[in-house]
Amino acid sequence: MLVALATLAGAATEAAAQDAARGFDLFQTTFECASCHGAAAEGGLGPTLAGTRLSLDEVRRQVRAPSSRRMPKFPQDELSEEHLEAIYVYVQSMQPPTLAEKATWWNIELLNLPTPALPARGDLELHFGHRFSESVADAGFGGLYGLDSFASPAFWFSYGLHPRIAPYVGRSANFATWEYGVKIALLLEGQLGVPLSVAANIGGTSLDADRLANTSRFTLEVPIGIRAGNRVALQVVPVFTTNPDQFGGPGSPNSSTAIGFGGSFKLSTKFSLDGEYITNVGGFARAGTVDQWQAGLTIHVRKHWFSLLLTNSDFTTPDFMAGGTVPTGIKGNVRLGFNLVRAFSF
Ligand code: HEC
Repeated sequence: MLVALATLAGAATEAAAQDAARGFDLFQTTFECASCHGAAAEGGLGPTLAGTRLSLDEVRRQVRAPSSRRMPKFPQDELSEEHLEAIYVYVQSMQPPTLAEKATWWNIELLNLPTPALPARGDLELHFGHRFSESVADAGFGGLYGLDSFASPAFWFSYGLHPRIAPYVGRSANFATWEYGVKIALLLEGQLGVPLSVAANIGGTSLDADRLANTSRFTLEVPIGIRAGNRVALQVVPVFTTNPDQFGGPGSPNSSTAIGFGGSFKLSTKFSLDGEYITNVGGFARAGTVDQWQAGLTIHVRKHWFSLLLTNSDFTTPDFMAGGTVPTGIKGNVRLGFNLVRAFSF
């Protein structure tokens, strides 16, 4: 009796293992669920299915009649009941991603500072940045702490051309600035057996506004990042820029060097607390300006990122900080801002 039961149990686990293996093939190649739900069912365009808590009935309903047109319909004559069960066993057997498995750098920027990360190959990332004009203290509760005020907007695109190469172009309302260049991964994390990564943003900016003397700059930013355990990532970013003084005439210093420090603390697989500080260390520094900082909370869900932040600057790129262009005129000088990022896969 006991032997018979053990054999039965053994056969059952074996059958489940076979189902999972078959489910793997169906999920990956036959029906290409993986193209949207991730190779390890970890989520992508579609939600995470690894370790799903949905019932077989709920999965069936979605597969036969998807809740939106973003997911194709799989009728029974194409994807049989037996296929469905095998896929279900497979996705249930997969572990949802843990903090340890998530990338060290969740985005190509921390808040303003570039990180060593690049967009995934074939992904086009669209970034929006807003920095509100009124300080939190000036606006108070009546002005929704500045959310009612005008915002200085910026947007930019970055494209994952290759795992190591990502061109970018962006536009910021401050001085109608175009920013363009290419991000190159110099050292990928783990390449030397250590969680160290280095990239370089090599590019330029061109400003367009009346009465500006210097309207184009070369910029170089070199994010150097390290992962310190599951939850903490730290980075140092040297920034070099030519022509930092956009108002300066002849004789004004022709370069600036700054250094940025950044850190990210992961609260969970979706939330992180991020902070950064940028200070001028050489060359031109505008008199009466201060070092810049940002602190924010980031939510990262699949291909979406949203950061709500506090900052003492209305600029969104570090090359402006190199010359110390943070204004000090605003009372309290702490304003709200946000970044919104979405990646589109091609
Ligand atoms: C073209 C992209 C795409 C493909 C291919 C795709 N899905 Fe989806 N799937 C989605 C999206 C997007 C959603 C989110 C809900 C919606 O929009 O209908 C989703 C939702 C789901 C859900 C509901 C998850 C939840 O948490 O509510 C299940 C289950 C699911 N898909 C299973 C599958 C299976 C199984 C396959 C392959 C047979 C598959 N999907 C193929 C895009 C896709």
